[in-house]
Amino acid sequence: MDPRQRLIVALDVSTAAAARKIVAAVGDSALTYKVGMQLYTAEGPSIVRELVSSGRRVFLDLKYHDIPNTAAAAVREAAELGVDMLTVHASGGGKMLRAAVDAAQAKPGLLVLAVTVLTSLDDVELGKIGLRGGVLDQVLRLTALALSNGCKGVVASAHEAGALRHEFGREFGDFAIVTPGVRPAGSGHDDQARVVTPAEAIAAGSSHIVVGRPITAAADPAAEARAILAQIGLEAAVRS
Ligand code: C5P
Repeated sequence: MDPRQRLIVALDVSTAAAARKIVAAVGDSALTYKVGMQLYTAEGPSIVRELVSSGRRVFLDLKYHDIPNTAAAAVREAAELGVDMLTVHASGGGKMLRAAVDAAQAKPGLLVLAVTVLTSLDDVELGKIGLRGGVLDQVLRLTALALSNGCKGVVASAHEAGALRHEFGREFGDFAIVTPGVRPAGSGHDDQARVVTPAEAIAAGSSHIVVGRPITAAADPAAEARAILAQIGLEAAVRS
C-alpha cells in the first residue's frame, strides 16, 4: 500500500487561505486532509468542496451525535459534498450508527468512523458522566456496537489499537483504526499527552494516522510529511 493512503493531515486553521497554504506546501506528500469543527465552523462547506474538486480526499471530522434521522440527514449532506471519511459518536447508539452507515451508501466507499471515548477523558471523568468500568471497557463496548452496526472503522489511540485488533479482527476483518496524537520521533509533543510515533502507531495496529502541527507548523511541511511517510512505509513493510 502507498504509505500516503495512511496519512491524514489535520487542517486545524480558521481560514480557507491558511488551509490552502498548507495544502500547497504539502504538495503531493499527502492525499487526505482532515477538516474539523474549527475550519468547518469558520468556512463552511465551501472549503470542503474546494478540496474535493482539487482532487484531495477529505476526512470530515464533525463527530455527528444526534437522533438517527438527523444524523443520517447530515451524513447524506456530507456524502453529497464528496468527502471520503467522516466521524459519528458511537455513543449515539446502534440505531444512529446504522442510520449513518445506510445514509453513507449515497457515496460508494465513504467510510463512517465511530469515535469511541475521547482521549481527553480518563477513568475518573468517565465515572463523572456515569460510566463505570474504565476507558478500555468502554472503548471495547462502543467499538463492538459500531462494527456490528456497519461502521468500517473507529477513531482510537494507538494504545487501544492492539486490543481492538485482537478482540474484533477475526469477526470484522481489516477495519480502519484512525489514530491522532502522533508525533514523529524526536519532535515536540505540543499539548498531546500520550503520543506515539508514526511507526509505533502502525506497529500497534492503526491503519491511518492523523498528524496536525508537526506537519502544518513545520518550516518545510512537505519534507516533514515525507519523513513520516518513510517511517510508516518501513513499518508497514516489516509487518507484511
Ligand atoms: O496538531 P495535532 O497533530 O495534535 O492534531 C491532531 C488532530 O487530531 C487534531 O485535529 C485533534 O483535534 C485531533 N484529535 C486528537 N486527539 C483525539 C481525537 C482527535 O488530537 N483523541
